[in-house]
Amino acid sequence: MKNRLVVVGTQWGDEGKGKITDYFAQQADVVVRYQGGNNAGHTIEFGGQRYALQSIPSGIFNPHIKNVMANGMVVNPVSVVSELETLESRGVKDYKLFISDRAAVVMPYHSVLDGAAESLKGGKQIGTTKKGIGPAYSDKYDRIGIRMGDLLDGDYFASRLRDALEIKNRELAMYGCEPMSFDTIYAQYMELGRRLGKYICDTSVLINEEIEKGSRVLFEGAQGVMLCIDHGTYPYVTSSSPTASSVPQNTGIAPRYVDNVIGVCKAYTTRVGEGPFPTELEGEIAHNIRERGHEYGTVTGRPRRVGWLDAVVLNHTRRVSGIDYLALMLFDVLSGLDTVKICVAYELDGRRIETMPATIPQFERCKPIYVEMPGWKEDISGIRSFDELPEAAKNYVRKIEELTRIKVAVLSVGPDRTQTVLLHDVF
Ligand code: IMP
Repeated sequence: MKNRLVVVGTQWGDEGKGKITDYFAQQADVVVRYQGGNNAGHTIEFGGQRYALQSIPSGIFNPHIKNVMANGMVVNPVSVVSELETLESRGVKDYKLFISDRAAVVMPYHSVLDGAAESLKGGKQIGTTKKGIGPAYSDKYDRIGIRMGDLLDGDYFASRLRDALEIKNRELAMYGCEPMSFDTIYAQYMELGRRLGKYICDTSVLINEEIEKGSRVLFEGAQGVMLCIDHGTYPYVTSSSPTASSVPQNTGIAPRYVDNVIGVCKAYTTRVGEGPFPTELEGEIAHNIRERGHEYGTVTGRPRRVGWLDAVVLNHTRRVSGIDYLALMLFDVLSGLDTVKICVAYELDGRRIETMPATIPQFERCKPIYVEMPGWKEDISGIRSFDELPEAAKNYVRKIEELTRIKVAVLSVGPDRTQTVLLHDVF
């Protein structure tokens, strides 16, 4: 039996990881978020209710599940408290939450610096969520970050904050921003530490103990591999690694404990923020997909850019992250098209390539080479087995498997938990 499953986004984020994590969470004992912070937006729907989570793991609705925010995350305590208050106000009161004492804290100066740095980039913005994620990770690696455990020790936190502000207030001045007050931040974050203190612990010990007991552990990635700091479309990426390979480091477990990886993939592609996107569509098809798929950012509300499915991207993701199975999401959105296309390779400066170039100018010059297939008109949101699909939709799934060499294990044909077809056991 496969007891440890990693859920990874295979594109530029927003693939529907929240739904898949929630689906498999029904069988999990522990759900672990391993990177990113409140830049993510996971939407989960069940029982006619819609919930949007940002940093809290998707197992929070089940009182038996231990939800872990692991050391690889950047945690904004203000956002965590407000997410918990929203959940509680909607009746989600009985939950188990654990926050790593080693997770980096997103501080108030991080979001100000994020916005200020973006505004200086002229036409070359990354299009960040302005949540301070990049500056928080930069401070972590610069060793001037504050960690969640620090908030529980007033003297130590004071000295870390003083040292950080020495530098941060100079940076803020450089951008023409007001300096930040030690006293205000100290009081606010000590209070947040008190509020969240009961959740803060050594989560690596917890996860290892659970694994040794034979518990079923689900690792929940945020964003997608194309936004990975190492393997994504740098610099138009986030500041962490959403790959399955980052799970051991980001959670404090041995690499051998990762059993299966499910790559979550839309039946088409979307992207928010800037950066090249070879299969991007304009016009009516893009508009129809955007409206039918509700393709607007959960965190920022920005309309998402829309394009055809890209097998070069999926093969890249399979290589750099490891992907054992695919979950094909929003499949119902593609109904009604005369033809559907999948990008199989790029043409770069007159040559055919099947791998991802490293630099943005090269990636921008890539022209997609497509296979075109007949579409299907039927509404497929009610199907509950592969056999019920129209032949053209079956062929689309088979083509993806052939092009990527990855088996499709899950089909999602609507937002609700019940609109999910399981084709292979993965967890
Ligand atoms: P940051 O993570 O806020 O630094 O933003 C960097 C890039 O990642 C931008 O293009 C964002 O739009 C993108 N990004 C960050 N989080 C998500 C997400 O959860 N879904 C989709 N894109 C994201």
